[in-house]
Parts: sequence; structure tokens; C-alpha cells
Amino acid sequence: MNLPYAEPFKIKMVENIKKSTKEERKAWIEQAKYNLFNLKSSQVFIDLLTDSGTGAMSDKQWSELMLGDESYAGASSFYKMKDAIFKILGFPYFLPTHQGRAAENVLFSTLIKSGDFIPGNSHFDTTKGHIEFRKATAVDCTIDEAFDIENMHPFKGNVDLNKLEEVVKKHNEKIPFIIITITCNTAGGQPVSMQNLRDIKKLAEKYNKLVVFDSARFAENAYFIKIREKGYENKTIKEIVKEMFSYADMMTMSSKKDAIVNMGGFIGFKDPEIYRQASVFNIMFEGFVTYGGMSGRDMNALAQGLDEGTEFDYLQARIEQVAYLGQRLLDFNVPMQKPFGGHAIFVDANKFLPNVPREHYKAQTLGVELYIEGGVRGVEIGTIMADRDPETKQNRYPKNEFVRLAIPRRTYTNNHMEYVAIALANIYERRNEIKTGYEITYEAPILRHFTVELKKAR
Ligand code: F0G
Repeated sequence: MNLPYAEPFKIKMVENIKKSTKEERKAWIEQAKYNLFNLKSSQVFIDLLTDSGTGAMSDKQWSELMLGDESYAGASSFYKMKDAIFKILGFPYFLPTHQGRAAENVLFSTLIKSGDFIPGNSHFDTTKGHIEFRKATAVDCTIDEAFDIENMHPFKGNVDLNKLEEVVKKHNEKIPFIIITITCNTAGGQPVSMQNLRDIKKLAEKYNKLVVFDSARFAENAYFIKIREKGYENKTIKEIVKEMFSYADMMTMSSKKDAIVNMGGFIGFKDPEIYRQASVFNIMFEGFVTYGGMSGRDMNALAQGLDEGTEFDYLQARIEQVAYLGQRLLDFNVPMQKPFGGHAIFVDANKFLPNVPREHYKAQTLGVELYIEGGVRGVEIGTIMADRDPETKQNRYPKNEFVRLAIPRRTYTNNHMEYVAIALANIYERRNEIKTGYEITYEAPILRHFTVELKKAR
């Protein structure tokens, strides 16, 4: 028999988590105004709110913390990070930032003007927020297959090149860059193929446009290329990563994902002039160019994490754990985005809760149910997260209404995944009895999902 995959690590330290009763959880979620972000972590048993900053660092990363150089300027930690970014990703210039959205803030301040259009593949919410905040428009050019949850397209994060070319032709001089999210979080943690990245770059060159990769989960994207795209099966993850970034002019990075650190981010540049212009905003918003909102020790851990995060055995264990949860849910017929995502399972609340009207926020309703059922915290990726249309102020109802179960890296075991699957299966069994959801009582004008307050709808 072929030996199965297994985690290429063992556990050296544990953190206890607390169980609770359904009655306690009902009271807590009511106090939290039915917003899962408002719960205390101690009120959550298994926390799948996000895979961002929630992973477990390795012993090598922890030891790197001790070697951090906290000099204001020119710290050795900056150079350690610079070397890792050049060696692994191929960008000669970079600016550290405190996290991914800060990288967006700095880069977009440099490149986006009011009235611009930024085409891409289902922009992440902070990315879209930073575009719309500057009175520009994010244009989604994702392939149609991405929105059909049963379609088994291996690269549902891909850009539809016809849609992209149309947008670029139409708004040509108002497009400062194209942004590609790898993997595409909003589409369900779905990868973009190497062929697609290559074609996007070719199209961008034809129209003289820059290409930015939103790279939070670039290593997971590389893993999918290796196992799904012809010609890459014998390449290492690091070789694939190098080729991927050869098609980008810049990258924004939330290091809280594939660099397996709790906090951190950066922008990578190939053009020294854009790097220079962005440095001004980095100094204003983040910090001097050699620390940009990060401690020296954190830059060290990040450099080490980039190396570990681009190793095949680690990625296999990580992505197979997500697939394990996906498969168990499929066994119970739970509807979800397929194929399974790299970092998360996206449960389809439209299909799951047919009797709840969409005006009652189906995905939020399911997220709250799951919390009450098992103390499992997911997150709504649906109407609440989609915000209102900046012009009409009406709710934007996205094509898919998901509850995302994001799996932190190296943090939970497959027994935890089993627990989550059973909790959801229990709700699925009584899904037809769930007929009402929630109404909003407070919302912020942008990125409302973080602070929204709700009450039970009648
Ligand atoms: N881009 C993508 C694709 C993301 O998923 C995120 C964050 C960001 C940018 C922003 O990075 O959080 O470091 O400021 N995603 C988290 C999530 C929050 O839960 O998916 P950040």
C-alpha cells in the first residue's frame, strides 16, 4: 500500500480551548448582536473565523524571534526579510507593512486616482474597500464557472480574458493596474492557473498595464498548480512560485496567511521608481522603509515562515486537512463550493437554507446556527460582507451566499474537523425548520460586516 500523507511536524506546545453549552452560546451570541466578530474567543470552541494570523509558528520561527534586530533603520531583520522575498518571490524591492490591507493602502495611495477602474478576479473585501474609498471601481472579471458551485473547474480563480480585455479597452487610460488574487478568497479559496497568469501578463503588456498579485495565499495557489496543471507535476513549489511571480510587477502580501505569522505584510516591487513613490506613503502610514509597522523579530519570523510555507509536505498536509473537512461534509450532503478551497470550505447558504429569505441574510443566519450548535465560529461571505452599492445604497446580493470555514495553519487536528462536520450535519438535518434570519440594526458605511449589529427577524 502507498503510505498516506501525514503532517510533517509533531506538537510541542498546546493551548487549551473551552467547551460551552448551547444555552450559554445562545445568550452570548445575543449579547454579541448576532455578529460573530463580537464574540470573545473564550466563547468559541473551534475558531474557523479566519486562517489569517491564527496559524501555529514553528520552533524555528519562535527562535528567530529571539534574533530580531529592533534598530529603527537598517535592521538585520529587514535584510533577512529582503533576502527571503528576493530568493523565494523574486522581488528586488519591498516595503514592510503591518498587514495586507496596509500594503493595499500604501500601494493604492501611490497608484489609484478617483474615477479609475481596477479589474481583477473577485477582489477581497479590504481590496475593494481601498479601491472604493478612493472613488474608483473594482471590476470583477472572474470566469463564470466560479459562481456555479457544482462546476469542478480546477482553476475557478481564473480571470475571463475576454471580460478583462473588454474592460481594459473600454477604460484604458483609467486603469492603473490589474489585480489578481491568488488564491481567490472571495471565489472560495480557488486557484488561478499558471496559464491564466501568463495570459493576463501578456494582455497587460499589450495595453501597457501593470499587474499586481494580491498574494496572501500564493503558496496554496502553487500547490494547486503542481497537482492540477499539466507540466508542473515534477516542479518544486519554490520553482512554481518563482514562475508565478515572474508574471507580476508588484505584489501585496498579507503575511498572516502563507508566511504563517500572526501579524505582518509587505509590498514587493520590480520597478525602483514605483518603490520610491510608495516609500513616501509607507513612511506616512506605516513606518520607516526598513520596518514599516513590523518589529524586527516579526520580520525574522516572517522570513523563516516564507521558506516553510513554500515546502510541499507542509502544503499537502494543510490543504488535505481542508479537503478532509470538505469530504466529511460532502458525506452528509452539505452543499458547498467545489472543488474544495485551499484554506477553507465555503458552505452554500442559499442551498442550505432554502426557507430563509435572502433579505434575512442567509449566510449570517447559518453562521449563527453553527455557533449555537457547536461553538464553531465561521464567517459570512455574503450579502453583509458585500456592503451596499456606493451609488444606490441598496444591498448588493452576491451570486453566492457562503459561510466560510477557514482552517488555521498547523493548529487543529482532523478530530476537530470531524466535530465541525457533525455540527453542520445536525443543522442540515433540521434545515427545513429554519425559516427566519436577521435584520440589521446598525451598520458602518464601508466594510460593515466587522461591526454590524443584528436582531432576529420576524
Ligand atoms: N487579500 C486577501 C486575499 C485576503 O484574504 C486578505 C485578508 C487581505 C488581502 C487583507 O489582509 O487581513 O492582513 O489586512 N483576509 C482575511 C480573511 C482577513 O479572513 O480572509 P490583512
